[in-house]
Order: sequence, then structure tokens, then C-alpha cells
Amino acid sequence: MAAIDYQSRIPNNVGLSDDRALQRALEHWQPAFLDWWKELGPAKFQGHEVYLRTAVSVDTQGWAHFDYVKMPEYRWGIFLADKEAERQIGFGDFRGKPVWQQVPADFRSVLRRLIVTQGDTEPASVEQQRLLALNAPSLYDMRNLFQVNVEEGRHLWAMVYLLHAYFGRDGREEAEELLVRHSGDSNHPRLLETFNEPIDDWLSFFMFAYFTDRDGKYQLKSLAESGFDPLARTCRFMLTEEAHHMSVGETGIARIIRRTLDEMHALRSDDPAQLREAGVIDLPLLQRYINYWFSSALDLFGSEISSNAANYFANGLKGRPDEISFEDHDASAAIEMIDGPSGQESVPMRNAMNYVTRAAYIRDCQIGLTRWNRLIAKEGFNTVLKLPAQRFRRNVGLWAAASVDTDGNPCSADVIARALPSQGDRAYARALMVGVDVPGKFANWIAPPDRGINNNPLEFAYVRAI
Ligand SMILES: [Fe+2]
Ligand SMILES: [Fe+2]
Repeated sequence: MAAIDYQSRIPNNVGLSDDRALQRALEHWQPAFLDWWKELGPAKFQGHEVYLRTAVSVDTQGWAHFDYVKMPEYRWGIFLADKEAERQIGFGDFRGKPVWQQVPADFRSVLRRLIVTQGDTEPASVEQQRLLALNAPSLYDMRNLFQVNVEEGRHLWAMVYLLHAYFGRDGREEAEELLVRHSGDSNHPRLLETFNEPIDDWLSFFMFAYFTDRDGKYQLKSLAESGFDPLARTCRFMLTEEAHHMSVGETGIARIIRRTLDEMHALRSDDPAQLREAGVIDLPLLQRYINYWFSSALDLFGSEISSNAANYFANGLKGRPDEISFEDHDASAAIEMIDGPSGQESVPMRNAMNYVTRAAYIRDCQIGLTRWNRLIAKEGFNTVLKLPAQRFRRNVGLWAAASVDTDGNPCSADVIARALPSQGDRAYARALMVGVDVPGKFANWIAPPDRGINNNPLEFAYVRAI
């Protein structure tokens, strides 16, 4: 077990003090990171004390240690899951060979691109969410937002470590660029389009945490299979933190639903106009937000048929999530049937990796919807929230720009528009957002959670001024 060294300026479990050149390079990047955090991290609350968890080791006991910390003093660092002895590449043409501890020369630029693309999304989400705390529905929620934000900051550290440690000078340059590109910046935007849009209401934040962070989970799961062992170990540890982000999304949406159901009972109505009068979020509005966020998350998986994905797999760089659960780890003879606008296409399995990964993602997304629908049914209402069809509102892949409704059937443009949040919906969601900063109090549109953080009561001051 590699213990985390908290004595050095950069906490780590990678023996950083044994590699002076690397340590110096990262210590040089650290102040730039902190400047970025102070400028584009959470607005206003940088001087507050936040009840955060910090990893003290990567095993099950040690990775969640809770205490008050000011965000700029959070101990961001470099934590890799422990090395597995004699780990072998689990898939593709190099299956059965020992994993690589250094970057294979042939795959250097491809691996660098994968790491930079993953790395770019981490600070992007912090930037997108920087104003949200100003209208947090409670201190509990504000704390959860900050927990997600500091961990995304650490995920950036994780990717920057790999760039510095394994990619020499161009890696260092890429690490600098990760702090130069900014979400929504017209000259230096973030690499993926979804990460350039501000997230300015909490309904969108919960949707992002549920759907977009879950895409992150599936990207990390695929990279956790990588034959490049430092990348695999980095991603395995990031996944433990990522689970919390998705639960913030899932429970946030569940609490919105619970509050709305209360009001539906009181009013004996599911009429959106009446519910809006009562200041809660009607379920049809929630459905439109699901339609929007799910469809944009699907685009993040890339095209259903992809020669890049086939190369990543063939070369052992990026596998399928839970590769072990598949029978055939070579996948060069297998075929996947994919539904396209001109009918079913048979596609070589290796070219269908994005599609296969996305299918696992969709199954995972459905779990939350099933739970939410159970809440609704238990209260005696018959609304059923649904994931829209995979081909709905796609900008990437076989169904890009196809005019289909949420059931996947051909339709006119106005049917698509009606299935998405209208300007009125967005304005209403924004108008609901009022900051609540009294411990134990919650905004009207969301129910309190079942329990507090780390066995603390809901009245606990999760964020406090000093
Ligand atoms: Fe992340
Ligand atoms: Fe995340």
C-alpha cells in the first residue's frame, strides 16, 4: 500500500520526492493551478470553511476523511490506485502481454490526446458551475457542489501528473494549455462543446451531475482498462470520487420530485400552472430537462461506428467498461448490430466500441429513473419519467440531425422543440433559484435529504464564514 505523503507540498502516493525533476515541474505548475482556482473556481466562498472530505489514503478506510477546509487550502494531490502485481493487458492485439509502465512510442500522441481530452473536462465543469453557490438551495447542497468542484480540480491534477511524468516537454505544454482554455471562452474554448455552456440553475446542475458525470464514469471505466498502467491506476482511483458526483445528481432530482409530489397532494392536481404558482418544479418540466441532458450526454460517446475507437481497442489503450465481464476480449471477429436511419447495420465489434460503451451507460442511467418513478408511483400518481430514444436530438453519429421524437419516430421540428426545455421553462427554473444560507433550511422547490453528511444533522453548518 502506497501511503499518501502529506508532508510534501504536493500530497501524493507516487513517491514524488524520489524524482526531483518531476517534483520541480509540478511545483511550478501548482501556483498556476491555484491562480486558476481562485479566478475561475467557485465565486465568493473561497474564504469560507467548507466541510469537505479529503483522501488520506487510497484504500477503503482512508479515502474519505472529513473536516473543515478553505477551498484554496484543499490538499489537491496525486493519488493512484495500488499497482496490481503482474497485471496484463486485458484486450485487443496485445492481450496477455505485461501492461506498459512507460508510454509505448507508437501510441504516444494517441494516449496524450486521450489524457488531454479527459483532463480538459475536469476544470471545465468547475468553470461552468462557478456561480451556482450564489443561489444554493441550502448549505448542505452548497457543500456538495464544492465537494464535486474540488474533486474535479483533483482530477485535473491526476491528468496533469500523467502528462508531466510520461510525456516530457509536450506533456508540460499540454498541462499549461489546460489552464489556458476556459469554458465558454471564444478564443480558447474547452475541447468538448457541452463543457462550454454555463450551468446557471441547480436543476441543470443535478442533471449534469446525473447524466454528464456519468459519461465521465464510463470514459474513466474504459480508461481504467488501459494497457498503459499509470493511466489505468489513476482512473481507478478517480472512479471512487466520481460515484459521489452522480449520487449528488440522483438524490438532488429525487428531492425535487419528493417536494413536487407533496404539493401535488396538497393541491390534488398535477397541473403545471398550479404547481408553478406553488413554486415547485412540475414533472413535465423535469422530463424536458431529462430529454435535453440525456441527449447531449449521448453525443459525448462519439459516433456509433468509429475507427478511432477500433484502434484504441486493438492497441490496448482504451477498453470497454468492465472488460472482464465480456467473453471475447479480442473482438476482431465479432459483429454488433447497430440501428441506423437506413435500417440495421452489421458493424465489426471493434468499430462499435463507442456504441457498446454507450449502451452500458444507458442501462446505468435507467436505474435512477426507475427509482424516481417508484417515488411517483408510491404517492399514487401515474406520471412515468422516461429516457428519450437514443436517436433523439443527436448532433453526433448516425442519427445526427435526424428529425425524430422522444420515441424515436419521425416528426417535425416543433415536436422536438416541445420535448425540450422552453425559454419559459428555463426562466422559471432560474427564477426559483434563491440562495438559502441558514443551516437546516432548504429552498421551497426541493425537499431536505434523508440524512446529512458523515452522520451530521441537517442543521450542521456545512459551509461557514470565519
Ligand atoms: Fe472528474
Ligand atoms: Fe465528476
